[in-house]
Amino acid sequence: MAVPVVDDEYLKQIEKARRDLRALISSKNCAPIMLRLAWHDAGTFDIATKTGGPNGSIRFEEEYTHGANAGLKIAIDLLEPIKTKVPKVTYADLYQLAGIVAVEVTGGPTIEFVPGRRDSSACPKEGRLPDAKKGSQHLRDVFYRMGLTDKDIVALSGGHTLGKAHSERSGFEGAWTDNPLKFDNYYFVELLKEEATGLLKLPTDKVLVEDPTFRHYVELYAKDEEAFFKDYAESHKKLSELGFTPRPVSKASKPDVKTCTVLAQSAVGVAVAAAVVILSYIYEISKK
Ligand code: HEM
Repeated sequence: MAVPVVDDEYLKQIEKARRDLRALISSKNCAPIMLRLAWHDAGTFDIATKTGGPNGSIRFEEEYTHGANAGLKIAIDLLEPIKTKVPKVTYADLYQLAGIVAVEVTGGPTIEFVPGRRDSSACPKEGRLPDAKKGSQHLRDVFYRMGLTDKDIVALSGGHTLGKAHSERSGFEGAWTDNPLKFDNYYFVELLKEEATGLLKLPTDKVLVEDPTFRHYVELYAKDEEAFFKDYAESHKKLSELGFTPRPVSKASKPDVKTCTVLAQSAVGVAVAAAVVILSYIYEISKK
């Protein structure tokens, strides 16, 4: 499908979508599933073939019925009324914006959002998302295929600070932290605890403390929330832009602030000069 034209009207609709997403996510407490939707739309990217990625294809039955996407139809349906109100905004942009707003509304870092993703109806084959039952090699295979790094793997796994697993969706049950609606670094704090806490640890979560390279980041993020927020925001932006090259906002419709300022300054200058001439003239006349 065509690349959307990001003009003034598009940007206005993005801001409307952002406001509506904030209201929806806070009133329905659905930040976790919105974040998971954004991640699952983006996480199919394959850097070698430039297929998959954040392109809205998860909205099609062919893709949301993949085993890894169980439950995500709920999030797709929750977003449809917003999509109707912002018809110019692509599904690809709307889903990524939903993920970013979900992190923001729950107290996480601000993630820069650049609009302009195109929608695609080409659904990737099943099996591109990670399998929670597997090990570190599998995690690397999946994330490297997207063009992401070890640091991205650990930082993004911190997204499990939100939400819970549902046995009827994934076969796993429970939350990773005591406060699954707050975006903080507790996923890492809990991960480092050796004693049983009653909280969830997927096999792929455990891998992060067993593998020395991953563990280095887990320890850093557990003790330094600021470092986690900084790295998370960078990795999330990368994830949300896989295969997408942001293009400069359409010049024709964007007012050139510099030109306007110069023109305004010149107009004021001319007005002041004219006033001075007129006043001097009146003064001269009145002297005569
Ligand atoms: C590293 C590989 C990952 C694996 C194997 C994995 C696996 C899972 C599984 C099995 C669930 C439970 C689904 C359910 O039963 O409802 C889940 C939930 C979740 N995942 Fe992941 N995940 C991974 C990475 C990520 C990433 C990168 C993010 C976001 C940046 C993320 C965000 C979430 C969220 C927010 C939930 C909770 C959803 C809810 O409460 O409905 N996950 N994940």
